[in-house]
Amino acid sequence: MKLCFIGTGYVGLVSGTVLSDLGHEVVCYDKDPCKIESLNKGICPIYEPGLEEIIKRNYNIRLSFTNDLKKALENAKAVFIAVNTPEAEDGNADLSFVYQALDNITQVYKEGTIIIKSTVPPKTCSKVKEYLSKFNVNLNVISNPEFLKEGHAIKDFIAPERIVIGAENEDSKNIANEIYKPLINRGHKILLTDTTTAEMIKYASNSFLAIKVGFINEISNLCEIVGANVEDLSYGIGLDSRIGEKFLKVGPGFGGSCFPKDIMALSYLAENYGDPLLLVKTVIQSNNARIERMVQKILNVFGGSIKGRTLSALGLAYKAKTDDVRSSPAIAILKRLKELGASIKAFDPKAMQKAESVLPEVKYCHSIEDAIKDTECIVILTEWEEFKNFDYEYYKDTVKGKVIIDLRNILNKNSLNSYKYISLGRS
Ligand code: UDX
Repeated sequence: MKLCFIGTGYVGLVSGTVLSDLGHEVVCYDKDPCKIESLNKGICPIYEPGLEEIIKRNYNIRLSFTNDLKKALENAKAVFIAVNTPEAEDGNADLSFVYQALDNITQVYKEGTIIIKSTVPPKTCSKVKEYLSKFNVNLNVISNPEFLKEGHAIKDFIAPERIVIGAENEDSKNIANEIYKPLINRGHKILLTDTTTAEMIKYASNSFLAIKVGFINEISNLCEIVGANVEDLSYGIGLDSRIGEKFLKVGPGFGGSCFPKDIMALSYLAENYGDPLLLVKTVIQSNNARIERMVQKILNVFGGSIKGRTLSALGLAYKAKTDDVRSSPAIAILKRLKELGASIKAFDPKAMQKAESVLPEVKYCHSIEDAIKDTECIVILTEWEEFKNFDYEYYKDTVKGKVIIDLRNILNKNSLNSYKYISLGRS
């Protein structure tokens, strides 16, 4: 089946590429000619483990890239909209890119199926259906939210724990079943529901996960006060199958292009209906407050002021295995430390280029050794394996101050005899 993807970001590029690998003919369109040019030169605009190989395996066989929309839409059985839906000023989801895509698509694509893969508020598909009735088109509208995690996206797409389809008629359901047949035949679950419920599943899923992360982060604060160990606590509560071990890893706060945006949009939506989601509102406040709490933790090491101090920042991405710095707690913390007068040397295995555009005011180093050299304190902000395996003892004489503040709890205090080691939720 020929499929067209509008948007070659983290979701569109991964989904389109993997669907081509599963046997569909996929044309990925992006309005940004630079992205398409890079992709046609074999340069992947995002870092996602395993993605480049799958693109290479399918490129110009079942997978192509273009910014010629007419060509992309020609004979497409379905068009996926995978454009970004950023947070608007008021917290609502900004759907302008979705509607721009619809306006462009309907000029040339009159018959077929629109599949909204972008994360959109509940009732968006219904509104899109109404919007399309203004045009002389006959288009089904399906909701197909994505659940892939950056850094794990290929596995999440090839082996999804569920495929969620919101469809309003049999024809749409048949199209969706046809597209995902290769995965359904491997036993992966497909949930067919209405579009509003499908849209809600996405927001409820991300909000619940955000609340779970926010919960362990707050519990770790209390662990520090009472002298408990949050790592043992996390393991201990996670052994309860009703809780589960995942998303109980303490950190500097959740970030990325989804959690912060999605919980704001859900909170905004509920507020607008006059029935606020208090839990969701609270986790937004809790996560925002965590940045200042992490900054304070660092200040405390220097008696309350870091003016004139030189710190090493290991990690810029919002989490490991991605180059994405959107809503990264690392970036937010470093901006605050700069405001408070610190000099910063930073290193991240993948996110440096993206970080430089949002955080020009730090010195970017090209190795861990270089980033820690002559600094008074090492702050670990992202849980890269490289930072976990690095031999800090071996380089102890290259640093000025032997202090490590581990905001991801990835190191073992017993292997850092020469350092003062500070972490989260562990006395
Ligand atoms: C998330 C959802 O998991 C995914 O289903 C959805 O499609 C997109 O949003 P992603 O943002 O890629 O995926 O990252 P995820 O691994 O979910 O982590 C989100 C944030 O929570 C990151 O900042 C991460 O560092 C943080 N986190 C996650 C923790 O602090 N502790 C954890 O135990 C898990």
